Amino acid sequence: MNNIQEIQRRRTFGIVSHPDAGKTTLTEKLLYFGGAIQVAGEVKARKIKKYATSDFMEIEKQRGISVATSVMGFEYKDYKINILDTPGHKDFCEDTYRTLTAVDSVIMVIDHVKGVESQTEKLLEVCRMRNTPVITFVNKLDREGNDIFDTLDEIEKKLSIGVNPFTVPIGMGKSFKGIYHLQQKEIILLDNQSNDNEKISLEEINSSAEWQQKIGKENIEKLNNDIELIETVYEKFDRKKYLVGETTPIFFGSGVNNFGVRELLHSFLELSPPPQKKQTTVKEILPEDREFSGFVFKIHANIDPKHRNRIAFLKVCSGVFQRNKKYYHVRHQKEFKFSNPTAFMAKESSILEKAYPGDIVGLYDNSNFKIGDTLTEGENFFFQGIPTFSPEIFKSVTNNDPLKQKQLYKGIAQLMDEGVAQQFVMNFSGKTIIGTVGELQFEVIQYRLLHEYSASCEFSPLPIYKACWMSGKQTEIQKIINRYPQFIAKDKDEQFVYLAESPYFLQRVQEDFSEVQFSFSSEVNKKVEQK
Ligand code: G4P
Repeated sequence: MNNIQEIQRRRTFGIVSHPDAGKTTLTEKLLYFGGAIQVAGEVKARKIKKYATSDFMEIEKQRGISVATSVMGFEYKDYKINILDTPGHKDFCEDTYRTLTAVDSVIMVIDHVKGVESQTEKLLEVCRMRNTPVITFVNKLDREGNDIFDTLDEIEKKLSIGVNPFTVPIGMGKSFKGIYHLQQKEIILLDNQSNDNEKISLEEINSSAEWQQKIGKENIEKLNNDIELIETVYEKFDRKKYLVGETTPIFFGSGVNNFGVRELLHSFLELSPPPQKKQTTVKEILPEDREFSGFVFKIHANIDPKHRNRIAFLKVCSGVFQRNKKYYHVRHQKEFKFSNPTAFMAKESSILEKAYPGDIVGLYDNSNFKIGDTLTEGENFFFQGIPTFSPEIFKSVTNNDPLKQKQLYKGIAQLMDEGVAQQFVMNFSGKTIIGTVGELQFEVIQYRLLHEYSASCEFSPLPIYKACWMSGKQTEIQKIINRYPQFIAKDKDEQFVYLAESPYFLQRVQEDFSEVQFSFSSEVNKKVEQK
């Protein structure tokens, strides 16, 4: 197989959902279809328990395990599929956002009972920033829930995306009988006992008294009406619109019953894109470009706490990655060679010799990498589109042990490289501020500083609403820096941020400085220094 064929057969995607909608269950069923696992429950058993909101010890325990579910690669038909795992816990949503920079498309799971939930809205916003193609799986049709048209409306309105139903459910809850595939024009009946669900045509069902009895007259009537309505109300599916994230094909089913999943998978493989071109600070990179390039989107630490080793997850964007070949680390301006690059398959990890665009490579790391780092064959650029979002909670750090000052700040710096939280340094006082999405991270940081760096610290809450990155007229930005020194800090890339105390204060500053734009997110690696 040549390189182009290798690229074309790769599908790298993430499954996103609000916790509990059925992401883990669906992942498991997809792996099962791919023959990557033999029994249900393998992924679930490894899942970080999302209910244990303050149970960070559990998260610590599972840290090693979740390396294995970070990337689940498997072969299915002629495809090489890479599912990138995204954490379910909302305090770790930054992790999810970053993982989404490495996918070429997304499957979104929606709970048919609960409809579109808050976390899904946020995740879709991130997908939209990059025009990521999205396929939707409306799950749990075996339970009573919203009418399908209400669900479709909600998706359109709340997520600002057009919808193209590919299947229609027949009944729901106790009377859920199956789905009608609008493209294949056939009915697939729910049969919990076998994986080969029975298929029949609509005409057959409409004209047979036996089927009327089995499926229910009411269900058949509703199905005929639903089909007619869908065909008249919704625009015809246009793959181009799907590929730029303007519309989403919709599938209905029940993950736990393994129903509707095969239809989803087959259409996914047909519709979803192979690895895509990517923008860098200097040019666009195409997967088929001859020279290798890739970027780090995730760092997983503490696989062995004694050695403080980590795995950096690199997405290959162009060329071919090869074991033991020297690659250029753009930020360090230095060459590195990797003798144990790791491939993650669903069941195991193994040393890889070659990886193609779309693949994820695990690189054992001794603190040489941070999120957003780029490897090339010598060219000087960074991949773009890796955002940092303003934290929600800000706290100042006080060192508990003056003799361990060095360890404390080294530990904090390394945890920040992993993306556990964000660090800001006050411009005025030089004080360190840590920002996170949830309280849980502070517990994780304290625990890890103590156990990995023997450093102990206290956190004190600060009355900060958001970190705002500033752009626009430089002289005006300087005026803000001079006028509000107590609210100005520098982020890890030495960019100035305005730490707004409240929406009211932010609005006032915005009114006073209309030539400055304030943003709650920033691009990692804006600058590239020339060699
Ligand atoms: P998540 O990763 O998105 O958080 O969701 P997960 O797959 O863990 O599913 C959340 C719960 O919803 C699980 O129940 C799961 O069994 C159930 N579920 C998933 N798909 C379906 C479906 O199609 N129909 C129904 N009725 N339930 C579904 P749980 O009680 O939390 O766990 P478990 O005891 O079943 O393992």
